[in-house]
Amino acid sequence: MMGDVSAPPVMADVAAADTPDVRKARGAFFTPDAITSFIAQWAIRSAADRVLEPSAGDAAFLTAAVERMRRLGDAAVFVPEVHGVEIHEPSAAVARHRVREAGGIAHVEVKDFFDVQPAPTYSTVIGNPPYVRYHGWVGTARTKSRAAALRAGVPLSGLASSWAAFTVHSAQFLRDGGRLGLVLPAELLSVNYAAPVRRFLFDHFARVELVLFDSQVFPEAEADVVLLLADGYNHGPTDHAVIRQAVDASGLATLADGQRWAPLDPAGKWTGSLVPPPAIEPLRRLREEGAFTNLQTWGETTLGMVTGGNHFFTLSPAKVAELGLPRGELRRLSPPGSAHLRGLTLSTAMLRRLGTEGKATSLFYPGDQPSPAARAYIEAGHKAGVDDAYKCRVRRPWYRVPLLPAADLLLTCMNADTPRLTTNQARALHLNSVHGVYLSDEHRELGRELLPLASLNSVTLLNAEMVGRAYGGGVLKIEPREADVWAMPSPALVASQADALRAIRAAVARKLQAGQLLEAVEIVDRALLVNPHQADAAELVQVQRARAELARRRMVRSQRVR
Ligand SMILES: C[S@@+](CC[C@H](N)C(=O)[O-])C[C@H]1O[C@@H](n2cnc3c(N)ncnc32)[C@H](O)[C@@H]1O
Repeated sequence: MMGDVSAPPVMADVAAADTPDVRKARGAFFTPDAITSFIAQWAIRSAADRVLEPSAGDAAFLTAAVERMRRLGDAAVFVPEVHGVEIHEPSAAVARHRVREAGGIAHVEVKDFFDVQPAPTYSTVIGNPPYVRYHGWVGTARTKSRAAALRAGVPLSGLASSWAAFTVHSAQFLRDGGRLGLVLPAELLSVNYAAPVRRFLFDHFARVELVLFDSQVFPEAEADVVLLLADGYNHGPTDHAVIRQAVDASGLATLADGQRWAPLDPAGKWTGSLVPPPAIEPLRRLREEGAFTNLQTWGETTLGMVTGGNHFFTLSPAKVAELGLPRGELRRLSPPGSAHLRGLTLSTAMLRRLGTEGKATSLFYPGDQPSPAARAYIEAGHKAGVDDAYKCRVRRPWYRVPLLPAADLLLTCMNADTPRLTTNQARALHLNSVHGVYLSDEHRELGRELLPLASLNSVTLLNAEMVGRAYGGGVLKIEPREADVWAMPSPALVASQADALRAIRAAVARKLQAGQLLEAVEIVDRALLVNPHQADAAELVQVQRARAELARRRMVRSQRVR
């Protein structure tokens, strides 16, 4: 590491050069004292510990480390030495200066952290890695970071944000038994690209602890973060993590005991760790008793059709009339988007209404001998360059979209509140803005009639938050393989409560139409779970609270600009 040789930096110059945009591009947001001192106190156990901060910024962690080491040593004579890496020279200069003012010596190397060869010599690595999303984390920065993670045996996809590789590379600097104390975005718990990082932590550390916050602790960045406290490097694996909850950064001083949480698969999403055990228990029990199962038991969920140009291939009735296209060259279509799938069924009457509102309810699908009207439209498409789109270029003829059979149920994949299942009564085809659920022969009749209704229960809603993922704008996205494991009432339970469900159908439909999802869910809960004594109302309140908390967290995460 580079020595401390700089003169005190001129702070005003540093600030002037470092605009908010420049800082954002390298993920520079600085950590509040309550967090740096909490992590330093946890991570540093002796004045002789060797401490590294991999993205030191202006030494928020290194100064906390020096203060901690001075308390552990003889403050009168002891001058702690700490190590850092920072890519931004002016920040490194500030870092050295601040550490000196705190009574220590900082060896801050000005370098890209991924260019630093790891030597496993540190007792602890602490810090707040830069958070740059994959679309900003590009070029050699990303290539180098992925290569570093891979050298540690962790393959990261191109979708990974910067913190993922930082976490893995940081651990490579630990000696056996060392401790990693990092501030990480809460997406560590949920995003698919972080799965190898989650597994890495369980595989390599003897103890993994997470601290979650009820409220935002980064006012500037509006970030939702977790603290990772991983202890006993190379003494793993562990099969559980301890989850502790703080109200905010000041709550770290009086943190209550945590709860033990053991995921079935450490690479799976850790969002389950956010759900208190009393809220998880009903689903566990209902599954064990056979009252709940996965959506895949009912049928297969698949991606919808990709046209290569919805503006050309999907047509409103008015457009069809204008073009003079015959019916035989059209297929009935659930219009692009999913705003119309908020009720229990998509009927032909609804499609007609959508059509009169100008929605595209037909797919252009000419046969081998296109009509003159279709030929003219194809020619117009060619002139407009529709056939240049990749999906069109790779198929013959370019203007015929490969069809999928009409699905039994449609599943909305991007959701502000919760994923919805709708019976495709109209037998309309669907595009990739929704997923199709193809029920098995055995469950088709029951599923088409009652599964969308039965799925509107509190347990299924909570589980959607656990299997899905937060997307831009706080939207809950669900992919087919996530939908496969989404908890649903079992065919046996739905069959046994079929009459009760039929009796509430109209009331539930009215609530949905009025946009009162949670009121609709209460009616379904009563008919499906409470009245037949599958669950009691008090435990469902826990389930509803947990679901509301997860939904709140995903909305908060969406506001992050870190
Ligand atoms: C979130 S800030 C944290 C700063 C400080 N550790 C704190 O907690 O206040 C991230 C820091 O990482 C630095 N950084 C970004 N990319 C880096 C890289 N590839 N190597 C080293 N430092 C980097 C940024 O300049 C910024 O100072």
